[in-house]
Amino acid sequence: MTMAIEAMRNGGERIKSGAIRRALNIVGWARGRAYRAYEKRLKDEIAARKLPEHVAIIMDGNRRYARKLGLSTDEGYDYGAGITERVIEWCFECGVKQLTLYAFSIENFSRTEDELEKLFELMRTEFDKICVDERFHKNEVHMRVIGNIGLLPESVIAAIRRAEASTERYTKFKLFVAVAYSGRMEIVDAMRILAHLVKRGLLAPEEIDEETIARHLYISQIEGEADAASSGAKTPVDLIIRTGGELRISNFVPWQALGNECTAYFCAPFWPEFRRLDLLRAIRTYQEREDERRQRSNSRVSKLKRLLGRDA
Ligand code: FPP
Ligand code: MG
Repeated sequence: MTMAIEAMRNGGERIKSGAIRRALNIVGWARGRAYRAYEKRLKDEIAARKLPEHVAIIMDGNRRYARKLGLSTDEGYDYGAGITERVIEWCFECGVKQLTLYAFSIENFSRTEDELEKLFELMRTEFDKICVDERFHKNEVHMRVIGNIGLLPESVIAAIRRAEASTERYTKFKLFVAVAYSGRMEIVDAMRILAHLVKRGLLAPEEIDEETIARHLYISQIEGEADAASSGAKTPVDLIIRTGGELRISNFVPWQALGNECTAYFCAPFWPEFRRLDLLRAIRTYQEREDERRQRSNSRVSKLKRLLGRDA
């Protein structure tokens, strides 16, 4: 009799836990559907408005992500690299044509030997992947590295050169990877070129303006001094994204971002957690800022016209 009651009780528990599992599955499915519908709506919304021409990303939070999940730092970087590949694809999908990624700053050289070795290995792997990964060739990605690459180990420089050579002929999508990069150093390097030109009598100091400086920053230098050079790469940045919750730009593309009324989008997810939805939200934020800017300048123009009309 006791055994029969026990069996009934166990059966009841099984039914109950089965029902809970089914209910949770339904909730998960409904949530997934709502998420996809929201993502699709956002994608359509941004496609109908002007897209940022040049997006730059600070891929921060890889180690913190690993710590949060009890993984090794190396695993954090590997997951991060996976997201980097996905983000490039999401850019193709939504129509962004130029992306600059902050992969390794000058300050990063001060990390531990072990970490540096992992980061160099990651770069070798990722650059070698670019040579063979069909997505880069199908989407005609033109990849160039910006930064002081002479500071890197020979094997990394060789991998960079192989990747650049394998994508040299493409023009559809421009990918710049900032490695051994410092924004201030980029400005210093531009000034040195200008100083040499002045010294050789090829440029008068009074001829130097914002345009001259922009034409001597890394992207212009490697792609040809005119912005619309063979690859059509653009120096000014329209949207800068930083993951990992930090509210700083950290020596990344200062000239290109600041003079350009660039939109800064800071978000909480660590880089390996960054989703397509986060990218779409960042683009929508850029579009909203652009609309506000246009409205402000239109209202200034009409105010001025009204004033002039009254005075006339
Ligand atoms: C900063 O996170 C990120 C890096 C130093 C490197 C990230 C690079 C990749 C994910 C891929 C590189 C791709 C190519 C094509 C070379 P962090 O170490 O500062 O993390 P934390 O903020 O959690 O400490
Ligand atoms: Mg960091």
